[in-house]
Order: sequence, then C-alpha cells, then structure tokens
Amino acid sequence: MSFDVISIIGLGYIGLPTAAAFAARRKKVVGVDVSQSAVDTINKGEIHIVEPELDMLVHAAVTQGHLRATLIPEPADAFLIAVPTPFCDGNKPDLSYIEAASRSIAPVLKKGDIVVLESTSPVGATEKMSAWLANCRPDLTFPQHAGEQSDIRIAHCPERVLPGHVIRELVQNDRVIGGMTRRCGELARDLYQIFVQGDCILTDARTAEMCKLSENAFRDVNIAYANELSMICDRLDINVWELIRLANRHPRVSILQPGPGVGGHCIAVDPWFIVDSAPDEAKLIRTARGVNDGKSHYVIEQTKRLAARFKAPVIACLGLAFKANIDDLRESPAIDIVNQLADERVADIVVVEPNVAVLPEALRGKVELTSLTSAIEAADIVLLLVDHREFKDINRRRLQSKLLVDTRGIFS
Ligand SMILES: NC(=O)c1ccc[n+]([C@@H]2O[C@H](COP(=O)([O-])OP(=O)(O)OC[C@H]3O[C@@H](n4cnc5c(N)ncnc54)[C@H](O)[C@@H]3O)[C@@H](O)[C@H]2O)c1
Repeated sequence: MSFDVISIIGLGYIGLPTAAAFAARRKKVVGVDVSQSAVDTINKGEIHIVEPELDMLVHAAVTQGHLRATLIPEPADAFLIAVPTPFCDGNKPDLSYIEAASRSIAPVLKKGDIVVLESTSPVGATEKMSAWLANCRPDLTFPQHAGEQSDIRIAHCPERVLPGHVIRELVQNDRVIGGMTRRCGELARDLYQIFVQGDCILTDARTAEMCKLSENAFRDVNIAYANELSMICDRLDINVWELIRLANRHPRVSILQPGPGVGGHCIAVDPWFIVDSAPDEAKLIRTARGVNDGKSHYVIEQTKRLAARFKAPVIACLGLAFKANIDDLRESPAIDIVNQLADERVADIVVVEPNVAVLPEALRGKVELTSLTSAIEAADIVLLLVDHREFKDINRRRLQSKLLVDTRGIFS
C-alpha cells in the first residue's frame, strides 16, 4: 500500500514530530488537533512546543506543501492517533481522548484504511478503540469481527522517544508493532518503514501495549530503588552520590540517580495502568510508585527543617520541569514541592526555570519567577530540583553562605 495521505490525530510532543517525519519523506500529511492555536501555529510553519530541530522540519514541511493542520479530520489512507492518555481519580487510565479522537475520524474512514493507536495505553485499549470505531461505522467491518478480512486495519505502535532527542530517536529507535491481526501488523510495519530506520518488530496489540507499560514501569522501579537508597543514606550519614558511583564500579550493577520524585506524563503515569489491570499481582510496581511519590514529601520535610532555622527565610527553588533541559512541566514533582512549600508558607519562595517564560497556573500568585542571579542572591536556602545545564554552571562560591538541598547531586 502506498499510503498517499497520512493523518496524525493530536499534534503534540509525539504527533507533530511524527507528522513532520512523514512529511520529510514527501508524504501528504494532514495533522488534526482540537487546539485552534496549535493548528494556526503549525499552518504558519511554526511550532508550539520545544523540541530541537522540530522547528526547521515543520517549517520545511509546511512551506513545501507536505504538511497541513486542521481542526476537522479529513479522509486519509492511514490515521495515527497520538492524543493524551492521562490518569483520572483513583489512578485509573483516562481513555476519553482516544475515544473522542476515534469518534472524530470514524465518519471519514473508508475500506482499506489503517488506524494506528500510538498513545501509551492500558492493555485492551486498542480493542476498545476498534469497538468505538465499529460502533460509529456499522457499514464497515473491523478486525474483532472480520479478522484478516476486515475493511479497516487496526494496530498499536507505542512511541518510546526521549524528549530533547525526538527527531533522531523517531527515525533510529526500534518499533514494536502490535496488529489486531497479522495483516494489520504487516500494514502498520509498511507504514512506519516510510521513515523508521530501526527494526519494526511485529507482535499482537495487547503485547505491544504491555511492552510500553513494562518499559516505563521498569524505569520507575529502578528509580525507586535509587530514591529509597538516598533516604537510607541520609539516615546513615553517607553521601548517596558517592555510594552509587562506587557501587556502579561492579560490572553487573547499574544503579540510577535519585531525584525529588518522578515526573513526566509517562513514567509517573504508566505504571498505574498496570496496577489498575492487575492490582493483586502488581505489588512491586505499586510500591515503587509510592516510594517515588514519597520522595517528594521527604524533600519538602527536609526543606522545612532547614527553613525553621530562619526568622524570615527565602528559598530559591531551581527548576520546575520534570527533567533536565526541557520545558515540559507535566506531572513534575518540582511543581508539587514548590506548591506545597508555598501553601504552607514555609518561606518566601523565588523560582528559576530557564525553559519557561511564565509560571504554571498552579504557582501563579504564590511564588515569583526570577533570574538565577537574583534568586541565589536573595536565598537563604537553595533547593535544587532539576539538573538543568544553567544550574550546573553556578559558581560554587556563590553558594558558600547558603544552605543547600541538592536533590540531583550536582553540587555534591
Ligand atoms: N511526550 C513524550 O515524550 C511521549 C513519549 C512516549 C509516549 N508518549 C505518549 O504519546 C501520547 C501523546 O503524548 P504527547 O506528549 O504528544 O501529548 P501532548 O499533550 O503533547 O499532545 C497531544 C495533542 O492531542 C491534542 N488532542 C487532544 N484530544 C484530541 C482529539 N480528540 N483530536 C485531536 N487532537 C486532540 C491536544 O490538543 C494536543 O495537542 C500519550 O499517550 C503519551 O503518553 C509521549
């Protein structure tokens, strides 16, 4: 199949680079998003997110006529759904975005099309998507009823790129492709091979869903080990950063780095999808989530103890993003920590986040966003929350008179 027109539903951190990657291969790409401002920005050849090299790719794709964005889905040969999959109350997966996206493309589907779910999803979500589509289009057949003979092909292909390196990793990473039938998987593989240079490995949809969740839960469990070690080391008066460096000299040991908790919309979220599907069995995965969330509370208590030494303390909180050198604030433990310190009026709080121009809504009116120089000058306590490159360059002499809470080990 030649896939003359490819439609990407959801033009965020995953969908827009994917749209640009197909467009760079001279495919006609129609991007769909519910955000008018995202659509307008992209149609001007600009981008609304921060990702190195993406601006150039999108600009070229739009000006050369390969990529266009719209609010309303249009007919295409392949549809890739890359909408959010957050969790809702009780840590349950929220599939409402996938459902809404499915219902929006259903009217334009035609016999022979393929629909690929890219969003990170709990096991069974691809089957649900297929059922939602089938409900909307009783005139077409779908894999759950018609198997290999279905009019519409359905697959799941989770994304595993690293923010900040998305353009390279999109092309180079291996892809796990879960077809609802063998033929669905093969077609999806043909689609991805338009730009993917890594291996495209076929499996079924449920295994592909679980594969992505397992990768992120693996990271979460390993970070929980490092975070737990950091708290044990504090109690035993041992420098955890030195300890980990030494332990990692063992040829078969590779302990990760502790932090102020775990953030982002993937590692802090996806393990809950496993826990929700198999609550009695997922004991270690659930505990790891608890340890990582508990580390944020630990940092808050540590900071409060130091603040109690001052009459009118000022705390400089360095970093809000969920990891270094990006502007993504989703599920960031740094925001929760700053928010709670502000709500409890522990101190006057100044915040430095070089990657954003305005404070996130949760912090507006509570803390001040300022420059690194003035924050450090004003601070009694420096709370390092993210290891952004700007913070690694701080002249240590400027910190000599300050109390430090270094959750990332860069001043250690
Ligand atoms: N960002 C990452 O690094 C990353 C990595 C791997 C997997 N994922 C997964 O990819 C999926 C998308 O993540 P993201 O980071 O791109 O999210 P995002 O929030 O950056 O982008 C999602 C986009 O979808 C749009 N949208 C929402 N509902 C829509 C609908 N019904 N129709 C059309 N557009 C709609 C939103 O306006 C937004 O622009 C999630 O499941 C996420 O877990 C993300």
